[in-house]
Amino acid sequence: MTNRTEPLLTVEDLSVSIPVPAGILSAVRSVSFTLDRGETLGIVGESGCGKSMMSMAIMGLLPRHVTVRAETLRFEGMDLLGLPERRLADLRGDRMAMIFQEPMTALNPLLTIGEQLMETFRRHRAAGRREAREKALHLLDRVGIASAERRLGQYPHQLSGGLRQRVMIAMALMCDPDLIIADEPTTALDVTIQAQILALLAELQRESGAAMIFVSHDLGVISRVADKVSVMYAGSEVEGGSTAQVFGTPAHPYTQGLFRCLPNSGLVARGAPLGSIPGVVPSLIGDVSGCMFRPRCPLARDACLEAVPAAAVADGHRARCVALADAAAAAPLVQEASAP
Ligand SMILES: Nc1ncnc2c1ncn2[C@@H]1O[C@H](COP(=O)(O)OP(=O)(O)OP(=O)(O)O)[C@@H](O)[C@H]1O
Ligand SMILES: [Mg+2]
Repeated sequence: MTNRTEPLLTVEDLSVSIPVPAGILSAVRSVSFTLDRGETLGIVGESGCGKSMMSMAIMGLLPRHVTVRAETLRFEGMDLLGLPERRLADLRGDRMAMIFQEPMTALNPLLTIGEQLMETFRRHRAAGRREAREKALHLLDRVGIASAERRLGQYPHQLSGGLRQRVMIAMALMCDPDLIIADEPTTALDVTIQAQILALLAELQRESGAAMIFVSHDLGVISRVADKVSVMYAGSEVEGGSTAQVFGTPAHPYTQGLFRCLPNSGLVARGAPLGSIPGVVPSLIGDVSGCMFRPRCPLARDACLEAVPAAAVADGHRARCVALADAAAAAPLVQEASAP
Protein backbone atom coordinates (compact mmCIF):
# COMPACT_ATOMS: atom_id res chain seq x y z
CA MET A 1 0.00 0.00 0.00
CA THR A 2 1.02 3.62 -0.43
CA ASN A 3 3.40 4.92 2.15
CA ARG A 4 2.47 8.51 3.02
CA THR A 5 6.01 9.69 2.52
CA GLU A 6 6.52 7.80 -0.73
CA PRO A 7 6.13 9.81 -3.95
CA LEU A 8 3.08 9.02 -6.08
CA LEU A 9 5.37 7.81 -8.87
CA THR A 10 8.99 6.69 -8.57
CA VAL A 11 10.95 6.02 -11.73
CA GLU A 12 14.49 4.81 -11.22
CA ASP A 13 16.86 3.76 -13.99
CA LEU A 14 14.12 3.21 -16.59
CA SER A 15 15.23 1.87 -19.97
CA VAL A 16 13.27 0.96 -23.08
CA SER A 17 14.87 -1.11 -25.88
CA ILE A 18 13.27 -1.98 -29.18
CA PRO A 19 14.55 -4.75 -31.47
CA VAL A 20 14.82 -3.33 -35.00
CA PRO A 21 16.35 -4.94 -38.14
CA ALA A 22 19.68 -3.14 -37.59
CA GLY A 23 20.02 -4.13 -33.91
CA ILE A 24 18.66 -2.94 -30.58
CA LEU A 25 17.38 0.61 -30.43
CA SER A 26 17.79 2.13 -26.96
CA ALA A 27 14.89 4.58 -26.99
CA VAL A 28 15.07 5.42 -23.27
CA ARG A 29 18.28 5.08 -21.29
CA SER A 30 18.41 5.15 -17.52
CA VAL A 31 15.84 7.83 -16.78
CA SER A 32 14.99 8.56 -13.12
CA PHE A 33 12.58 10.95 -11.43
CA THR A 34 9.87 11.12 -8.78
CA LEU A 35 6.51 12.81 -8.87
CA ASP A 36 4.27 13.88 -5.99
CA ARG A 37 0.53 14.48 -6.02
CA GLY A 38 -0.39 17.83 -7.51
CA GLU A 39 3.01 18.19 -9.12
CA THR A 40 3.70 18.64 -12.85
CA LEU A 41 6.87 17.35 -14.47
CA GLY A 42 7.62 18.77 -17.91
CA ILE A 43 9.56 16.53 -20.29
CA VAL A 44 11.19 18.42 -23.11
CA GLY A 45 13.47 17.46 -26.00
CA GLU A 46 13.60 17.27 -29.78
CA SER A 47 11.68 14.76 -31.85
CA GLY A 48 12.93 11.20 -31.36
CA CYS A 49 14.42 11.79 -27.90
CA GLY A 50 12.27 9.09 -26.28
CA LYS A 51 9.54 11.21 -24.67
CA SER A 52 6.63 9.13 -25.95
CA MET A 53 8.42 5.81 -25.38
CA MET A 54 8.99 6.79 -21.76
CA SER A 55 5.34 7.79 -21.31
CA MET A 56 4.09 4.57 -22.87
CA ALA A 57 6.48 2.51 -20.72
CA ILE A 58 5.08 4.04 -17.53
CA MET A 59 1.53 3.38 -18.74
CA GLY A 60 2.46 -0.20 -19.66
CA LEU A 61 1.30 0.41 -23.21
CA LEU A 62 4.31 -0.87 -25.13
CA PRO A 63 4.00 -4.10 -27.12
CA ARG A 64 5.58 -7.30 -25.81
CA HIS A 65 8.62 -7.28 -28.08
CA VAL A 66 9.76 -4.00 -26.52
CA THR A 67 11.86 -4.48 -23.38
CA VAL A 68 11.14 -2.19 -20.45
CA ARG A 69 13.55 -2.38 -17.51
CA ALA A 70 13.75 -0.33 -14.35
CA GLU A 71 15.38 -0.48 -10.97
CA THR A 72 12.10 0.93 -9.63
CA LEU A 73 8.81 1.74 -11.32
CA ARG A 74 6.35 2.32 -8.49
CA PHE A 75 2.97 4.00 -8.65
CA GLU A 76 0.81 4.36 -5.53
CA GLY A 77 3.02 1.81 -3.80
CA MET A 78 2.65 -0.77 -6.60
CA ASP A 79 5.48 -2.22 -8.66
CA LEU A 80 4.17 -1.55 -12.17
CA LEU A 81 6.60 -3.94 -13.85
CA GLY A 82 5.55 -6.77 -11.56
CA LEU A 83 1.80 -6.34 -12.05
CA PRO A 84 -0.09 -8.80 -14.24
CA GLU A 85 -1.49 -7.20 -17.42
CA ARG A 86 -5.05 -7.45 -16.09
CA ARG A 87 -4.20 -5.36 -13.01
CA LEU A 88 -2.37 -2.82 -15.17
CA ALA A 89 -5.39 -2.55 -17.44
CA ASP A 90 -7.49 -1.84 -14.35
CA LEU A 91 -5.17 1.02 -13.39
CA ARG A 92 -5.10 2.55 -16.87
CA GLY A 93 -7.92 4.97 -17.47
CA ASP A 94 -8.75 4.75 -13.78
CA ARG A 95 -5.82 5.75 -11.53
CA MET A 96 -3.57 6.82 -14.40
CA ALA A 97 -4.67 8.21 -17.72
CA MET A 98 -2.96 9.36 -20.87
CA ILE A 99 -3.80 12.20 -23.23
CA PHE A 100 -2.25 11.27 -26.56
CA GLN A 101 -0.31 13.32 -29.07
CA GLU A 102 -2.93 12.89 -31.80
CA PRO A 103 -6.54 12.45 -30.64
CA MET A 104 -7.67 10.96 -33.94
CA THR A 105 -5.46 7.91 -33.37
CA ALA A 106 -6.72 7.47 -29.81
CA LEU A 107 -10.45 7.98 -30.38
CA ASN A 108 -12.42 5.17 -31.97
CA PRO A 109 -13.92 6.50 -35.23
CA LEU A 110 -16.78 3.97 -35.04
CA LEU A 111 -18.08 4.95 -31.62
CA THR A 112 -19.84 8.14 -30.60
CA ILE A 113 -18.15 10.52 -28.21
CA GLY A 114 -20.70 9.58 -25.56
CA GLU A 115 -20.14 5.84 -25.94
CA GLN A 116 -16.38 6.30 -25.60
CA LEU A 117 -16.58 8.53 -22.55
CA MET A 118 -19.10 6.32 -20.82
CA GLU A 119 -17.30 3.07 -21.63
CA THR A 120 -14.22 4.14 -19.63
CA PHE A 121 -16.29 5.07 -16.61
CA ARG A 122 -18.56 2.02 -16.64
CA ARG A 123 -15.66 -0.35 -17.07
CA HIS A 124 -13.82 0.92 -14.02
CA ARG A 125 -16.70 1.97 -11.82
CA ALA A 126 -19.33 -0.67 -12.50
CA ALA A 127 -21.67 2.33 -12.84
CA GLY A 128 -24.97 2.44 -14.64
CA ARG A 129 -25.59 4.24 -17.92
CA ARG A 130 -27.24 7.19 -16.26
CA GLU A 131 -24.42 7.90 -13.85
CA ALA A 132 -21.85 7.54 -16.64
CA ARG A 133 -23.83 9.87 -18.88
CA GLU A 134 -24.07 12.51 -16.17
CA LYS A 135 -20.34 12.34 -15.56
CA ALA A 136 -19.64 12.62 -19.31
CA LEU A 137 -21.93 15.66 -19.64
CA HIS A 138 -20.37 17.29 -16.61
CA LEU A 139 -16.85 16.82 -17.98
CA LEU A 140 -17.69 17.95 -21.52
CA ASP A 141 -19.07 21.07 -19.92
CA ARG A 142 -15.94 21.47 -17.75
CA VAL A 143 -13.64 21.23 -20.78
CA GLY A 144 -15.65 23.99 -22.42
CA ILE A 145 -17.67 22.04 -24.98
CA ALA A 146 -21.00 23.75 -25.63
CA SER A 147 -24.15 21.73 -26.43
CA ALA A 148 -22.69 18.74 -24.61
CA GLU A 149 -25.91 16.72 -25.03
CA ARG A 150 -25.68 16.94 -28.81
CA ARG A 151 -21.94 16.22 -28.84
CA LEU A 152 -22.44 12.96 -26.97
CA GLY A 153 -24.21 11.55 -30.02
CA GLN A 154 -21.57 12.67 -32.53
CA TYR A 155 -18.62 10.76 -33.98
CA PRO A 156 -14.99 11.98 -33.72
CA HIS A 157 -14.84 13.05 -37.39
CA GLN A 158 -17.71 15.47 -36.79
CA LEU A 159 -15.57 17.47 -34.33
CA SER A 160 -12.79 19.97 -35.01
CA GLY A 161 -9.23 19.19 -33.83
CA GLY A 162 -9.63 21.49 -30.84
CA LEU A 163 -12.87 19.83 -29.78
CA ARG A 164 -11.42 16.35 -30.19
CA GLN A 165 -8.51 17.30 -27.95
CA ARG A 166 -10.99 18.53 -25.35
CA VAL A 167 -12.86 15.25 -25.59
CA MET A 168 -9.58 13.39 -25.01
CA ILE A 169 -8.98 15.45 -21.89
CA ALA A 170 -12.52 14.75 -20.67
CA MET A 171 -11.99 11.05 -21.32
CA ALA A 172 -8.74 11.05 -19.35
CA LEU A 173 -10.55 12.67 -16.43
CA MET A 174 -13.62 10.42 -16.35
CA CYS A 175 -12.34 8.39 -13.40
CA ASP A 176 -10.51 11.24 -11.59
CA PRO A 177 -7.03 9.77 -12.12
CA ASP A 178 -4.17 10.43 -9.71
CA LEU A 179 -1.68 10.66 -12.58
CA ILE A 180 -2.23 12.21 -16.01
CA ILE A 181 0.37 11.76 -18.73
CA ALA A 182 -0.20 14.36 -21.43
CA ASP A 183 1.95 13.65 -24.50
CA GLU A 184 2.09 16.79 -26.66
CA PRO A 185 -1.59 17.46 -25.94
CA THR A 186 -1.59 20.84 -27.66
CA THR A 187 0.96 20.45 -30.46
CA ALA A 188 -1.66 19.95 -33.17
CA LEU A 189 -3.67 23.00 -32.10
CA ASP A 190 -3.43 26.65 -33.03
CA VAL A 191 -2.00 28.94 -30.38
CA THR A 192 -5.30 30.40 -29.14
CA ILE A 193 -6.82 26.98 -28.52
CA GLN A 194 -3.49 25.78 -27.13
CA ALA A 195 -3.58 28.54 -24.51
CA GLN A 196 -7.18 27.64 -23.57
CA ILE A 197 -6.35 23.95 -23.22
CA LEU A 198 -3.28 24.66 -21.08
CA ALA A 199 -5.30 26.90 -18.76
CA LEU A 200 -8.01 24.27 -18.57
CA LEU A 201 -5.60 21.46 -17.74
CA ALA A 202 -4.00 23.56 -15.02
CA GLU A 203 -7.40 24.38 -13.52
CA LEU A 204 -8.64 20.79 -13.61
CA GLN A 205 -5.40 19.61 -12.09
CA ARG A 206 -5.64 22.18 -9.28
CA GLU A 207 -9.16 21.00 -8.52
CA SER A 208 -8.35 17.30 -8.52
CA GLY A 209 -4.82 17.37 -7.07
CA ALA A 210 -3.66 14.93 -9.76
CA ALA A 211 0.01 14.70 -10.71
CA MET A 212 0.89 15.32 -14.34
CA ILE A 213 3.68 14.45 -16.72
CA PHE A 214 3.51 16.97 -19.53
CA VAL A 215 5.50 16.11 -22.64
CA SER A 216 6.34 18.77 -25.19
CA HIS A 217 9.11 19.88 -27.50
CA ASP A 218 7.95 23.44 -26.81
CA LEU A 219 9.87 25.15 -24.01
CA GLY A 220 7.36 27.99 -23.84
CA VAL A 221 4.55 25.55 -23.07
CA ILE A 222 6.64 23.70 -20.49
CA SER A 223 7.54 26.93 -18.69
CA ARG A 224 3.83 27.66 -18.24
CA VAL A 225 2.72 24.29 -16.89
CA ALA A 226 5.62 22.56 -15.15
CA ASP A 227 6.90 22.71 -11.57
CA LYS A 228 9.98 20.76 -12.54
CA VAL A 229 11.60 19.89 -15.83
CA SER A 230 13.55 17.05 -17.35
CA VAL A 231 15.40 17.77 -20.59
CA MET A 232 15.85 14.62 -22.65
CA TYR A 233 18.37 14.03 -25.38
CA ALA A 234 18.73 10.76 -27.29
CA GLY A 235 16.87 8.76 -24.64
CA SER A 236 18.61 10.18 -21.56
CA GLU A 237 18.01 13.05 -19.21
CA VAL A 238 20.77 15.59 -19.82
CA GLU A 239 19.43 18.21 -17.41
CA GLY A 240 16.74 18.36 -14.74
CA GLY A 241 15.58 20.49 -11.86
CA SER A 242 12.88 22.93 -10.87
CA THR A 243 11.42 24.96 -13.72
CA ALA A 244 12.99 28.07 -12.19
CA GLN A 245 16.43 26.41 -12.14
CA VAL A 246 16.36 24.98 -15.65
CA PHE A 247 14.81 28.08 -17.21
CA GLY A 248 16.71 30.56 -15.03
CA THR A 249 20.18 29.05 -15.43
CA PRO A 250 20.17 26.39 -18.14
CA ALA A 251 23.42 24.48 -17.57
CA HIS A 252 23.74 21.81 -20.25
CA PRO A 253 24.90 22.93 -23.73
CA TYR A 254 21.88 21.10 -25.22
CA THR A 255 19.40 22.99 -23.01
CA GLN A 256 21.20 26.23 -23.82
CA GLY A 257 20.90 25.34 -27.51
CA LEU A 258 17.17 24.78 -27.14
CA PHE A 259 16.79 28.17 -25.48
CA ARG A 260 18.75 29.86 -28.25
CA CYS A 261 16.04 28.66 -30.61
CA LEU A 262 13.49 30.65 -28.61
CA PRO A 263 12.78 34.34 -28.93
CA ASN A 264 12.66 36.23 -25.59
CA SER A 265 14.76 33.56 -23.88
CA GLY A 266 17.38 36.02 -22.69
CA LEU A 267 20.03 33.99 -24.52
CA VAL A 268 19.35 35.68 -27.84
CA ALA A 269 20.39 39.31 -28.16
CA ARG A 270 17.60 41.59 -29.34
CA GLY A 271 17.65 41.75 -33.13
CA ALA A 272 20.04 38.80 -33.47
CA PRO A 273 18.86 35.88 -35.60
CA LEU A 274 17.29 32.96 -33.76
CA GLY A 275 19.62 30.02 -33.42
CA SER A 276 19.15 26.39 -34.21
CA ILE A 277 21.16 23.45 -32.99
CA PRO A 278 23.16 22.17 -35.95
CA GLY A 279 22.92 18.45 -36.73
CA VAL A 280 20.31 15.87 -35.83
CA VAL A 281 19.60 13.44 -32.99
CA PRO A 282 22.00 10.51 -33.54
CA SER A 283 20.98 6.92 -34.17
CA LEU A 284 20.04 5.15 -30.97
CA ILE A 285 20.83 1.71 -32.38
CA GLY A 286 23.57 -0.46 -30.88
CA ASP A 287 26.07 0.25 -28.12
CA VAL A 288 26.57 3.89 -27.38
CA SER A 289 29.35 5.40 -25.34
CA GLY A 290 30.24 8.87 -24.23
CA CYS A 291 28.01 11.89 -24.60
CA MET A 292 25.41 11.54 -27.36
CA PHE A 293 25.27 15.32 -27.82
CA ARG A 294 29.01 15.47 -28.55
CA PRO A 295 28.76 15.79 -32.39
CA ARG A 296 26.54 18.86 -32.03
CA CYS A 297 28.09 20.43 -28.96
CA PRO A 298 30.11 23.66 -29.04
CA LEU A 299 31.97 22.56 -25.89
CA ALA A 300 32.87 19.04 -27.10
CA ARG A 301 36.30 17.75 -26.08
CA ASP A 302 38.12 14.39 -26.13
CA ALA A 303 36.80 13.37 -22.71
CA CYS A 304 33.25 13.46 -24.14
CA LEU A 305 34.07 10.32 -26.15
CA GLU A 306 34.34 8.36 -22.92
CA ALA A 307 31.64 7.79 -20.31
CA VAL A 308 29.20 10.60 -19.55
CA PRO A 309 29.84 11.84 -16.03
CA ALA A 310 27.34 11.42 -13.23
CA ALA A 311 25.14 14.47 -13.05
CA ALA A 312 26.66 17.55 -11.49
CA VAL A 313 24.15 18.62 -8.89
CA ALA A 314 23.55 21.88 -7.11
CA ASP A 315 20.49 22.15 -4.89
CA GLY A 316 18.52 19.56 -6.90
CA HIS A 317 19.54 21.10 -10.27
CA ARG A 318 21.42 18.41 -12.21
CA ALA A 319 23.16 18.21 -15.55
CA ARG A 320 25.28 15.52 -17.18
CA CYS A 321 28.13 17.13 -19.07
CA VAL A 322 31.89 16.68 -19.07
CA ALA A 323 32.52 20.41 -19.29
CA LEU A 324 30.28 21.02 -16.28
CA ALA A 325 31.78 18.16 -14.34
CA ASP A 326 35.24 19.69 -14.88
CA ALA A 327 34.04 23.00 -13.55
CA ALA A 328 31.69 21.58 -10.91
CA ALA A 329 34.08 21.24 -7.99
CA ALA A 330 34.83 24.95 -8.07
CA ALA A 331 31.50 26.36 -9.28
CA PRO A 332 28.53 23.99 -9.31
CA LEU A 333 26.23 24.44 -12.28
CA VAL A 334 27.45 27.56 -14.01
CA GLN A 335 25.93 30.95 -13.30
CA GLU A 336 24.26 29.99 -10.04
CA ALA A 337 27.57 29.99 -8.23
CA SER A 338 28.60 33.34 -9.66
CA ALA A 339 25.27 35.06 -9.02
CA PRO A 340 25.62 37.99 -6.60
N1 LIG B 1 7.52 1.47 -33.36
C1 LIG B 1 8.82 1.78 -33.31
N2 LIG B 1 9.75 0.90 -33.76
C2 LIG B 1 11.06 1.20 -33.70
N3 LIG B 1 11.54 2.35 -33.21
C3 LIG B 1 10.68 3.26 -32.76
C4 LIG B 1 9.26 3.04 -32.79
N4 LIG B 1 8.65 4.13 -32.27
C5 LIG B 1 9.62 5.00 -31.94
N5 LIG B 1 10.84 4.48 -32.23
C6 LIG B 1 12.14 5.12 -31.99
O1 LIG B 1 12.28 5.35 -30.60
C7 LIG B 1 12.97 6.58 -30.38
C8 LIG B 1 12.18 7.45 -29.44
O2 LIG B 1 10.94 7.78 -30.06
P1 LIG B 1 9.79 8.58 -29.35
O3 LIG B 1 8.56 8.40 -30.16
O4 LIG B 1 9.73 8.21 -27.92
O5 LIG B 1 10.32 10.09 -29.47
P2 LIG B 1 9.62 11.45 -29.01
O6 LIG B 1 10.63 12.14 -28.14
O7 LIG B 1 8.29 11.18 -28.44
O8 LIG B 1 9.51 12.24 -30.38
P3 LIG B 1 8.35 13.23 -30.92
O9 LIG B 1 8.69 14.59 -30.35
O10 LIG B 1 8.55 13.19 -32.40
O11 LIG B 1 7.03 12.70 -30.50
C9 LIG B 1 13.22 7.19 -31.76
O12 LIG B 1 14.54 6.87 -32.13
C10 LIG B 1 12.24 6.48 -32.65
O13 LIG B 1 12.75 6.37 -33.95
MG1 LIG C 1 6.33 11.66 -29.07
